[in-house]
Amino acid sequence: MTFTSQFSALGSDSKALEALLWTVFALGVLKATTFVLSFSSLVLDLFVLPGVNFRKYGAKKGQYCVITGASDGIGKEYASQLAKRGFNLILISRTQSKLVTLKSEFESKYDVKVRILAIDIAEDVSENYIKIQEACSGLPITILINNVGQSHSIPVPFLETEEHELRNIITINTTATLKITQLVAPLIVKSAKEARCKGLILTMGSFGGLLPTPYLATYSGSKAFLQSWSAALAGEMKSQNVDVEIVLSYLVTSAMSKIRRTSMMIPNPTQFVAATLKTVGRRSGAQERYATMTPYWSHALYHFVIENTIGVYSKLANSINYTMHKSIRSRALRKAARQAKQQ
Ligand SMILES: NC(=O)c1ccc[n+]([C@@H]2O[C@H](COP(=O)([O-])OP(=O)(O)OC[C@H]3O[C@@H](n4cnc5c(N)ncnc54)[C@H](OP(=O)(O)O)[C@@H]3O)[C@@H](O)[C@H]2O)c1
Repeated sequence: MTFTSQFSALGSDSKALEALLWTVFALGVLKATTFVLSFSSLVLDLFVLPGVNFRKYGAKKGQYCVITGASDGIGKEYASQLAKRGFNLILISRTQSKLVTLKSEFESKYDVKVRILAIDIAEDVSENYIKIQEACSGLPITILINNVGQSHSIPVPFLETEEHELRNIITINTTATLKITQLVAPLIVKSAKEARCKGLILTMGSFGGLLPTPYLATYSGSKAFLQSWSAALAGEMKSQNVDVEIVLSYLVTSAMSKIRRTSMMIPNPTQFVAATLKTVGRRSGAQERYATMTPYWSHALYHFVIENTIGVYSKLANSINYTMHKSIRSRALRKAARQAKQQ
């Protein structure tokens, strides 16, 4: 006697139970199939499919990329690796001297043209946007990398976050990113049409925005904002032949993360950007999301596991994150106290 026929034998009331069991079974099969398909897609994206050919974005045809926060860390690597693929560059960041050094390095190493612009993006003033417009004026631009970002100097309770830190995070990560995109995106649409290629807008998101992150509340909120904004923009710009992607990253060694040593979970900017450019347009770890990519392999597996187990918005995820960042704050405060004593 089978499992279901045992219930049938119990009479007509058991029919409802039998139907319920079949429904649960069918849902289980559907869930398992979806899981297997999305994991297979992750493996294909990360390890099997060949790298994206940037000719589709106009590589080696005189096209320019605009990169914000381009003088250090991840932004500097985007600049270097896109120059290597044959794009001219417009580099925007704060420190003129760093930009001058990079300009001469990239022009001689990759034989590309480089324009530089030193502005403080935390100052949301019209002169900045006029300067960006002037820097881009008359140039064929097919790629924008919204990389510039600021986080909290150390994890901090929201109620103790200093006003200038809060304001800078919101201005740099959201207001300025949106305004720069409004300036550059129309140029990308025009240039891509003229060059008969596609345009690309990449924006740096973060696991800080993927998971609500206590003690980094303002940064977390700003990156979550970028996630929704970028995915919405992707829907709008699809018909204009422009790919728009938010790039999710866990930790990467840089001045911002204050981490110097790489590990399995923490790549350096060269490794992170290589993975991003190789898989542009593929979701990798972000299988459940449109126009979103988690490109570095260990970050991708981490994202996939969280999404398919406790979920990014769960109480458990929030509480693990809370404990972790509270402990990072305590250590940072102890270190600051030690340094103050030594002085
Ligand atoms: N590193 C990570 O672990 C990590 C993880 C997830 C997401 N992200 C995101 O990745 C992006 C890049 O981070 P990163 O770690 O590469 O940062 P980084 O090493 O600190 O580099 C930041 C870059 O942005 C520029 N910049 C900073 N503030 C600026 C301002 N007010 N005006 C103009 N330029 C400014 C800096 O210019 P100067 O050098 O001239 O100051 C530098 O070129 C950010 O959006 C960040 O949120 C990073």
